[in-house]
Amino acid sequence: MNSRPRPSPLNPSARSIKRRALSHPPAIPSSTIYERSPDGSYRSGLAYTRADNPTYDHAERLLAALEGGVACMLFASGSAAATAVFQSLLPGDHVLVSRILYWGIRKWLAEFAVSWGLDVEFVDTTNLAQVTAAIRPGRTRLLWVETPANPMWDITDLAAVAEIAHAVDVRVAVDSTAATPVLTRPIEFGADLVVHSATKYLNGHSDVLAGAVVTARADPFWERIRSWRRSAGAVLGPFEAWLLQRGMRTLFVRVLRSSESALAIARHFDGHTRLRE
Ligand SMILES: Cc1ncc(COP(=O)(O)O)c(C=O)c1O
Repeated sequence: MNSRPRPSPLNPSARSIKRRALSHPPAIPSSTIYERSPDGSYRSGLAYTRADNPTYDHAERLLAALEGGVACMLFASGSAAATAVFQSLLPGDHVLVSRILYWGIRKWLAEFAVSWGLDVEFVDTTNLAQVTAAIRPGRTRLLWVETPANPMWDITDLAAVAEIAHAVDVRVAVDSTAATPVLTRPIEFGADLVVHSATKYLNGHSDVLAGAVVTARADPFWERIRSWRRSAGAVLGPFEAWLLQRGMRTLFVRVLRSSESALAIARHFDGHTRLRE
């Protein structure tokens, strides 16, 4: 039997992903030096690295393919990626957010988003009746789900919440940092946006702080997030993008091994005589 780890069968585009992952050209760190046409225009469409850089284009295409999305944007951190989504909303917009979520984002929502006019409501997204009851048709613009949710690892039924949200035109964003696209591809379950702290599994080498948002479609909200990233300068540096792409080459192997280890630990402690609930 061939025991080599393989891309998850969940992931239909494994071959094209492998091709993308193996192509790992050197980082292009220059901020401004792009070829110009005689009329002064930039023939490649690239002008300044805060807007575009070929190095992070490679990592973005790879992650978009891994998630089954149409496009990806890298950010300076997972927090920068998450806050870019919220900051692309408008004052007065109502947002529903998983009650259990990474504490840093919860703190930012409470400290900044609320004072800037977002109407933030925390809800138990594992409870479908609560989600349905909390939605305010015409006012709720975003349902933010973290699953598995840090630190209690609550699991939300993505297909079910996406159905509830989409019935009333609410966009669904999923922080899928803990799952990675090896284990869950939220877009296949109806998510509109997938957010990652790429600092964690995606990079895997503990030498990069990075974030990412992947979209199911290139719509005006996506362009607004892009505009936010460019204007706010929340972009990842080219060298970090290069390191991240290097890290993603071993993503499947690492997630497989972590999952095996986690299962072995869980089995060891399941019913252990010295543990009580
Ligand atoms: C689930 C989750 N989302 C987002 C973040 C924030 O990411 P970063 O530390 O890259 O800003 C974290 C960080 O621990 C996290 O665990």
